[in-house]
Amino acid sequence: MTTYTAKAHTNIALLKYWGKADSQLIIPTTTSISLTLDEFYTETAVNFDASLTSDDIYINDDQITGAAGQKVVTFLNLVRQQANITDFAVVRSNNHVPTAAGLASSASAFAALAGAASAAAGISTDLTDLSRLARRGSGSASRSIFGGFVQWQRGNDDQSSVAEPIQQIIDWPIQLITVVISDQPKKINSRSGMQNAMQFSPDYPAWVKRTNAMVQPMQQAIQNHDLEMLGHMAERNALEMHAQNMMANPAFNYLTDRSWTIINTVQKLRREGILAFSTMDAGPNVKIISDPKDTETIIHALRSSVPDIQYQIATPGPGITIQQGNHLS
Ligand code: DP6
Repeated sequence: MTTYTAKAHTNIALLKYWGKADSQLIIPTTTSISLTLDEFYTETAVNFDASLTSDDIYINDDQITGAAGQKVVTFLNLVRQQANITDFAVVRSNNHVPTAAGLASSASAFAALAGAASAAAGISTDLTDLSRLARRGSGSASRSIFGGFVQWQRGNDDQSSVAEPIQQIIDWPIQLITVVISDQPKKINSRSGMQNAMQFSPDYPAWVKRTNAMVQPMQQAIQNHDLEMLGHMAERNALEMHAQNMMANPAFNYLTDRSWTIINTVQKLRREGILAFSTMDAGPNVKIISDPKDTETIIHALRSSVPDIQYQIATPGPGITIQQGNHLS
């Protein structure tokens, strides 16, 4: 069968997905909204081959086995089932999401895998179908199928829980400064972190309600190019997500003293009239939503609080692309 290569970009959630209503199908408790990022992406080539006796998986040229490999095999089984084929596959994936960028790569990884595997297996590559499939690999991957601002509708079953674009061409100034606090793998992965928060934080049902109530205002902020409204809601939603973790049992915490120093600096910048807002995922790194014109002021302020600060700048990015052949760069 023919090889296909897909390229998908990672995304940052402005309204978070943090908990599963159905953990088998990965149906979330909240509708989430994200921004796809140009600078960080995964390219994956897939070829189903009748002569193979097992799936062969390579990430950045290293063969992957164990739990990470099993996640990919489970995902390929889903594709095989949909395509009604039994052939094993060779999967080659190159991750351009440097650990140092402080962003997770599972979103772009499973989006690219969904695209390349679907094309190679001859099943639908319609974007909604790809989003539904990518979701089964990692929830946030459902959003990486589309470019720009994206909404993952929580839905209530496999069919209805898919992402859709809100605004694909971003012709207004917004960027993300990713501040690296640690490039070490997270101690508690998002899958078990969200499970614990959902099960044990007494505030969790209220967090879900507050998040879902912010969907419409967030869409409005995007339509109106209102960075201030968008940023305020994103920061509040992220802090409240981390508050769920601190209210879990046992309580846990992804944020370090350094994370808080950055968050406080960003809040201080706001008091001085700069539109800068923090968001954090399942790790200590802080991502600052801002206007590119304020980069210098923001970096200067961050440097005065944390002199050896490391950062990368990300801008809005496109949706998935799929090509016939091996086009790994
Ligand atoms: C904090 O999509 O990595 O980044 O579905 O269990 O693979 P699984 O989780 P994952 O969780 C992402 C959590 C988050 C928020 C978000 O991206 O919405």
